[in-house]
Amino acid sequence: MRFRPLRGSTAESTELAQVADPPQSMRAVVFDAPGDASVLHESTVPVPAPALSELLVRIVAAGVNPIDAKTRSGAGVSALLPALPSTLGFDFSGVVVRAPFEAHPLQPGTPVFGMVPFPRSGGTYAEYAVVPSLSVARKPSSLSHVEAAGVPLAALTAWGLVVETAHAHEGQRVLIHAGGGGVGHFAVQFAAYFGAHVTVTASGANSAWLRELGASVVIDYATTRFEDVVADVDVVIDLVGNVHGHTGTRSLQVVRPGGLYILVPTGSWPGYADAAAQAGVRSTSYKVVPDGGALATVGRLLDSGAVQVYIDKVFDLTDAAAAHVAIEDGHTRGKIVLRVSDD
Ligand SMILES: NC(=O)c1ccc[n+]([C@@H]2O[C@H](COP(=O)([O-])OP(=O)(O)OC[C@H]3O[C@@H](n4cnc5c(N)ncnc54)[C@H](OP(=O)(O)O)[C@@H]3O)[C@@H](O)[C@H]2O)c1
Repeated sequence: MRFRPLRGSTAESTELAQVADPPQSMRAVVFDAPGDASVLHESTVPVPAPALSELLVRIVAAGVNPIDAKTRSGAGVSALLPALPSTLGFDFSGVVVRAPFEAHPLQPGTPVFGMVPFPRSGGTYAEYAVVPSLSVARKPSSLSHVEAAGVPLAALTAWGLVVETAHAHEGQRVLIHAGGGGVGHFAVQFAAYFGAHVTVTASGANSAWLRELGASVVIDYATTRFEDVVADVDVVIDLVGNVHGHTGTRSLQVVRPGGLYILVPTGSWPGYADAAAQAGVRSTSYKVVPDGGALATVGRLLDSGAVQVYIDKVFDLTDAAAAHVAIEDGHTRGKIVLRVSDD
């Protein structure tokens, strides 16, 4: 006898009854060799098969993140790709098609959002993906799939930085570089939520918006050198690194003795730890963890209205190359999302 879920709203139960068997093949955007955005093209590939505790998910929308473009160009995590052609994409919002077992809490039809273990297996620029069940959470009911797809990788990065690494708390003085981007706009909101005094660097056009999200001070990086106006912060969350204008090196000047410098684009400054030690500053790099439990907490904050996701641009899956050109421009406000299929 088939196990029937005991809990769930009427709407959810109706959706549970409507899940179709997956097809054998699907549309995916792949690349055959490293290069610029034009190497991305649509292809027909087999629908992956879940094993053991994995879920098969129908993707409705996929997040576009800088790591996707870096990897496509031959940097990022390209060395870890098992083979080419490969499908990019780390995060998604969609609907469960296959659950690991009959009594699993995420039954077919359940709307979920989360991360895949790309690059070890397939990405989310595709109609279906196999996902570890611990890397997903129920989609926040107040968000559309397109909105939810903008959350997982960026918000989990911000959560790991602000909550788990910086231990944000009342009165903590934190400086966040690139506060207007995907990770930054969540980091600003989480830090403010936990009572920190938040200073951010961003372009002037994002200033009013970032104050609405909880920043106390917004520094226009195009007109003001942050080290001229900030000093003695407890923590720097550096989402820029030493690629542009030596943001990392300059950041060490504004951290109080014994404070913490966190480098997020880890490849941009191999010597950060020695430089920080010489400056009397603690330091660490950071790598996002695909933590479904933390994502469920973020989902509750989104549903409560305490935290918002900002979607800058939405592209169709067919236009993934244009989405990469947009993310590589480096001036996204919030998130870029690919629409993969209908809800
Ligand atoms: N290690 C990890 O686990 C991990 C996880 C996630 C992301 N990352 C890395 O972290 C970085 C940020 O990711 P993201 O998704 O937030 O990127 P993103 O959304 O593309 O960031 C775009 C933002 O960067 C701002 N910006 C550009 N140059 C700046 C500068 N010199 N000073 C201050 N702000 C600047 C832009 O502001 P304006 O538009 O106002 O100019 C824009 O709002 C990327 O390098 C990404 O690969 C690492």
